[in-house]
Amino acid sequence: MSWNARALDVLAAGEPTPLIDFPVQAPGIRLLLKDESAQPTGSLRHRHARALFRQAVLDGLVGEGTTVVEATGGNAAVAQAWFARRLGLPYIVVMPGERSQARARAVEALGGECRFVTPPLAIYDAARGIPGHFLDQFGRAAEHDLGEELFAQVRPDWVVTGAGTGATSATLGRWVREHDVPCRVAVADPDNSAYFPGWTLDVPDYATGMPSRIEGIGRPRVEPGFRPDLVDLVIPVPDAASVAAARHLRAVTGLAVGGSSGTALWAALELVERMRARGESGTVVSLVGDAADRHLATYHDEAWAAAKGLDAGPYADELRRRVALRPEGG
Ligand SMILES: Cc1ncc(COP(=O)(O)O)c(C=O)c1O
Repeated sequence: MSWNARALDVLAAGEPTPLIDFPVQAPGIRLLLKDESAQPTGSLRHRHARALFRQAVLDGLVGEGTTVVEATGGNAAVAQAWFARRLGLPYIVVMPGERSQARARAVEALGGECRFVTPPLAIYDAARGIPGHFLDQFGRAAEHDLGEELFAQVRPDWVVTGAGTGATSATLGRWVREHDVPCRVAVADPDNSAYFPGWTLDVPDYATGMPSRIEGIGRPRVEPGFRPDLVDLVIPVPDAASVAAARHLRAVTGLAVGGSSGTALWAALELVERMRARGESGTVVSLVGDAADRHLATYHDEAWAAAKGLDAGPYADELRRRVALRPEGG
């Protein structure tokens, strides 16, 4: 078997992640969480990494011995290092800022190398300057396998995701359109992100120039992988509401989710509320992007939120009104 054939085997779809029933006070309406924290590397980025490697192998850009390079500070690096190790490829990630052991540890444990660069925006040029193949998760955002997997598990009326590279909403939107499935795709968008204004005003290169405080989603500009034509609705979510919803999600499921899962949950609950008000029944799926103990010191920590000027209190009150706090029998 050739190296490429073996690589494509390694890059075949993984085990499906579970759906979790989430309690809502709305008769006839089900809210399900698609738990991507159950991925082998703990986040939805596992799917992006698999798709990026797969595309690069198919395009002949990555082969036996190719050094693979990326610029990112987040979950993407851990997922990519995991696949690089399984493919036997050297992996180098350029991370923004001063060296941090905490951020380097997970990548280095998988045999990857971390290089830290300041100022943060210099990571892209630094990555391009390293001999090897630059995966470029934003520039080459590759649609992944979530659609196939999710719609084999359930046929929801709505699925709610965030948008970083744009790959997930494009994947889902394309799947429902190509398979003529009557499910709509909503993107939950945090403060400062360009996606909500860009989509609403129909300006494909809209830019806010401001970074998102919700890790993994929300961008200062509309990225090339975001496909407004494959999205049915973009819902703006205040960061304080994302924080309140992330904490609520943890209280109900025990998962120490990141802020982006809160953003999606808040938007999903808005959709549930709209359906309830119209007397509709149906199913809404909301993505859990990741869970990790490090989030306990940020989104789940009151001092962190206060220092960021985020008052989750009023949104937590609203959540208590909207949802039953414990799952049935819990
Ligand atoms: C809830 C959620 N939605 C979406 C994404 C990513 O979106 P995209 O595929 O646009 O990068 C993330 C982070 O990876 C996330 O946590």
